[in-house]
Amino acid sequence: MREDLACYNIADLRERARRRLPLGIWEYAERGVEDEAGMARNRAAFERVTFRPRVLRGVHQIDPSCEIFGRRVPFPLAVAPTGAAGLVWHNGDLALARAAAAAGVPFTISSASTLDIEQIAEGGGRLWFQLYLWEDRTLSHAVVERAWGLGCEALFVTLDLPVPPNREYIQRNGFGTPFKLNARNVADVLTHPRWLAGVMGRYALGGGIPSQANLPDRLRSKITKSAPPGALFKQDDLDWDGVADLRRRWPGKLVLKGILHPDDARRALDMGADGVVVSNHGGRALDSSIASIDALPEIVAAVGGRMTVFLDSGVRRGSDVVKAVALGADAVLAGRAPLYGLGAAGQRGVARALELLQRETERTMAMLGARNLDEVRRLLVE
Ligand SMILES: Cc1cc2nc3c(=O)[nH]c(=O)nc-3n(C[C@H](O)[C@H](O)[C@H](O)COP(=O)(O)O)c2cc1C
Repeated sequence: MREDLACYNIADLRERARRRLPLGIWEYAERGVEDEAGMARNRAAFERVTFRPRVLRGVHQIDPSCEIFGRRVPFPLAVAPTGAAGLVWHNGDLALARAAAAAGVPFTISSASTLDIEQIAEGGGRLWFQLYLWEDRTLSHAVVERAWGLGCEALFVTLDLPVPPNREYIQRNGFGTPFKLNARNVADVLTHPRWLAGVMGRYALGGGIPSQANLPDRLRSKITKSAPPGALFKQDDLDWDGVADLRRRWPGKLVLKGILHPDDARRALDMGADGVVVSNHGGRALDSSIASIDALPEIVAAVGGRMTVFLDSGVRRGSDVVKAVALGADAVLAGRAPLYGLGAAGQRGVARALELLQRETERTMAMLGARNLDEVRRLLVE
């Protein structure tokens, strides 16, 4: 155990990250949309799920491992794509990838990463690639080809942001793209010298402000500048035919992220997708959407066993991982939990977050009397 961090749960890592980061970066990483009811609903829904534990079942050996896409993982979790990692820590995408590789869990590279996929792939481990489509679709196709060439096993196409989400605090803080200097964010950054030196200072030494990576050089713009024409994410015209086109182009596993309706899950199965992520984007897309864990059972009933069902949005404890599996998910994705670790202590903090979630998963299973995930699935959830 990495006791030296003195962080004993994800909430400790969160608090440490909050103190280190300028408010504008912290709010970008942490907050939801509009009134943040969706974020609260995600947690409340997890808390409503309870177990009726079984006793005297010999739980000295707990095995939370399982197979995802034909390969074993130590416990049913992968790191979700989070675009802001490079602002939370210097080369944050790489730190996430390295910590995930060391923990043996897959890492999902975000389309919005500030390192390009080739640099992130240097972290090793199992890689998945998350796609937002750029307005100029040929850019997306080129990136997807590179991802395949680098050995990314799965393409996660995120569907729950057909239009940009309403994040009012980003405008207030001036932390949008392009980044706009104002009295508030200048004071914010200057009062966080550790972040300024450790993140921005290191970028400055290494060649400048991070840019939207993954685009050809001629289209890359610094995060302080507006994107050139065609190089903005734009999906308001994406439909099932568009996803079928991606299916034809992508030889690996295809996963549709941001599914909350069983009919959409069925349609994903019919069009040849290999999985869905039951997700409301961690409460960062539509504030009034159903909590993912509440949407899960119907989706499992519709497609479970025939495609891989992931769940995300609100996972903060190992018990949440077990609840998702008990309700039929094959695995969860964790977004903020590893990001808090990253903000707290870089790669070491991410490792700590993953370690805590795995230990808590094992402890919850032992408490429940479930020695492996099949036994979790057979246990009754209240
Ligand atoms: C700071 C941040 C950035 C994110 N960036 C992306 C992204 O680039 N692509 C994507 O599909 N999802 C993105 N997400 C959503 C996550 O992949 C995931 O769905 C969500 O974080 C799950 O909820 P959780 O944070 O409660 O675990 C982001 C989430 C956060 C918190």
